[in-house]
Amino acid sequence: MEHKGFTLWFTGLACSGKSVLANVVAEDLKKRGMKVERLDGDIVRKGLTRDLGFSDEDRRMNIERVTFVAKLLTRNGVAVLASFISPFNDIRAYSRKEIGTYILVYVKCPIEVCEQRDIKGMYAKARAGEIKQFTGIDSPFEEPNKADIVVETDKQTIEESKKVILDALSEMGYLPD
Ligand code: ADX
Repeated sequence: MEHKGFTLWFTGLACSGKSVLANVVAEDLKKRGMKVERLDGDIVRKGLTRDLGFSDEDRRMNIERVTFVAKLLTRNGVAVLASFISPFNDIRAYSRKEIGTYILVYVKCPIEVCEQRDIKGMYAKARAGEIKQFTGIDSPFEEPNKADIVVETDKQTIEESKKVILDALSEMGYLPD
């Protein structure tokens, strides 16, 4: 089914729930017959951006490259679901400008809760000084100043957050009839 391309960009701390939410929304959009692609930090960093680390500059470069890919897909009618910490407002603004049809989802969750989840044990390592420049510990995360959608994963279930996102997409006219 033909539909307009867009990039739904998930920003938030590690373990905030970005990837899980992007995955469940992606599955839903596929069931509606839409063309869907996922771009995820943990996967892209094993390929396209494997030469990059976590300095501010490397994070910006990471997002710049991914933005290029998202832009190409978006203009070819794909629904792109991108999940990256993307910690700075200037780099988020860059993605919005480049991609055009860009919807920013802020996956909001207090760092204490993210740290309790610590799915990959990275917060513990960052606290122990074994991982440097970890977002929220010794590298900044700027709260988005221009989020189109906000979900709060410490208060909502995944299903509830998913519904907030899908309702917003429907309201904005991005879902096929
Ligand atoms: S971003 O800041 O450049 O947008 P990205 O989303 O691609 O980050 O990558 C984040 C993932 O890299 C995390 O899910 C985590 O598994 C891993 N990671 C490794 N080192 C760090 C670090 N110092 N800070 C944040 N995430 C890290």
